[in-house]
Amino acid sequence: MSNSLFRKKSIEKIISDHQQGLADGHIGGMKKVLNVRDLTLMGVAAVIGAGIFSTIGSAAFNGGPGVIFLFIITAITCGFTALCYAEFASRVPVSGSAYTYSYVTFGELIAWILGWALILEYSIGNIVVAISWSAYFNNILENVFHISLPAHLTTGYETAKHAYEAALAAGQPTGDLIYTNAPKLLGFPLIVNLPAFLIVCIITMLAYIGIRESKNTANFMVGLKIVVLLFIAAVGIWIIFTDDLTGNWTPFLPNGMAGVLKGVSAVFFAYIGFDAISTTAEECANPQRDMPRGMINSLILCTVIYVITTLVITGMVNYKDFEGVTDPLAFVFDKINMQKVGTFISISAVIAATSVMLVFQIGQPRIWMSMSRDGLLPKSFSKIHHRFQTPSFATIVTGFVVGIPVLFADDKLMTDLTSIGTLFAFVLVCGGVLVLPRVASTPGKFNLPYINGKFIIPVLVILFTILSWNRLTEAVGNIGTEGYQEILFLVFMFVAWLIAIVSFIRNYSLIPVLGMLCCMYLMIEIPAKSWLVFFVWMALGLMIYFFYGYRNSRLARA
Ligand code: ALA
Repeated sequence: MSNSLFRKKSIEKIISDHQQGLADGHIGGMKKVLNVRDLTLMGVAAVIGAGIFSTIGSAAFNGGPGVIFLFIITAITCGFTALCYAEFASRVPVSGSAYTYSYVTFGELIAWILGWALILEYSIGNIVVAISWSAYFNNILENVFHISLPAHLTTGYETAKHAYEAALAAGQPTGDLIYTNAPKLLGFPLIVNLPAFLIVCIITMLAYIGIRESKNTANFMVGLKIVVLLFIAAVGIWIIFTDDLTGNWTPFLPNGMAGVLKGVSAVFFAYIGFDAISTTAEECANPQRDMPRGMINSLILCTVIYVITTLVITGMVNYKDFEGVTDPLAFVFDKINMQKVGTFISISAVIAATSVMLVFQIGQPRIWMSMSRDGLLPKSFSKIHHRFQTPSFATIVTGFVVGIPVLFADDKLMTDLTSIGTLFAFVLVCGGVLVLPRVASTPGKFNLPYINGKFIIPVLVILFTILSWNRLTEAVGNIGTEGYQEILFLVFMFVAWLIAIVSFIRNYSLIPVLGMLCCMYLMIEIPAKSWLVFFVWMALGLMIYFFYGYRNSRLARA
């Protein structure tokens, strides 16, 4: 059995199967229309969204202007991963993202687990973005059109319930809360996020209609959001220097690095999405050359924008004022009595979130399509629409998987789950590169540079151990009584040392190992209670695999 669980596909077989499928019509062909520019814009479309427009507020409050260091650290982490993605994308130029890559390197079981985890990134991630979209959309309705939708139709049930429970726990009155006042339907409070649901329906329709239309829509929206963020930067810098607000940048690290690191989850969420490009490999004109370039370009562009934006907002307003602020970019302009600019920013936040949703809503069905071609999901998931040439059934299922929960969900748990799922996928992609056979570099194709990690990796792990000595001794001293978060840290230290030793013995390539270690570190910074939900999700996925995929897998039948 263990052999069949780890049965692998070869890269050559993936490519030849695909070509054969195209030739005999078993696989519907997709339009090959995407070039480097489109891919870069698609990356930016997927990355800049709810993160920079919403979650950066809490990160700035905890870390001050120094949160730019966290953006840089996270960008470097994502950069290592992007290089590994690029290596895979240049070797396996068919749709499927990390899922396909792990089928080649680790075999079927891990591939399924990864495909299942990617649902967290794409579908659950889209739930978070849709909720943020809805919040900004309501702002615009109120400020521009003076329309106020009833609160019970613009809030998720879980969010309202949490607010009610928190008020009860704090002994505060609950009479005015949505949870108490909402009309009842069959005895249950009717509390749903209707705008979030509607935007998911619209995005699903766009994804269904096809990549060309969706690509053009995305390109337009990306252009607009870059222009808006550059505008914010220019106006902000001008105000900071003419009003002499530079004092807000001192101290630069008001709560030290510990404060900065509190923003890990929020900042990482802001970077999620650059890997979504790899799911469109079959729609690229020249995937082996363009895919890596698109990914790295978009990552660099987003980092520059994030760092400038962070410096601008923490320069315009003191970091302490960001407590509880969920619309920081609009907030800084409201604060200096430039409400019109604030409204303009809310509009661009809606546009940014729309483009993120579009890319994710296009990406998810393509992963399912690959899983279905492998027999791990029913055939209908790989059905290509005869006219639009998109995976039609899988696109509609994605619409339901995202659309129904947005009506009820709370975004905090969803954000954590998205981050854990994505980081998990990143760790496996980086690990997968270590397992790939090395090949001679080919001109015109991307090749991950090999730097021997024999000594560098152990030295870095030793340095990290010294720097976190206090945390380590505290966790070890509390063995038996320590919290789950400390256990996660101890597990991380153990794994890091193990990797250092194996790297020393096997001369592992530096970049993938650094990618793995950085992603694992970010993972353990996510609250342990979200890990519990993650484990339940993965257990559910395993059950489905053993009931369906294990028996129906194409490799098994072959
Ligand atoms: N990075 C994406 C966003 O911030 C998920 O919305």
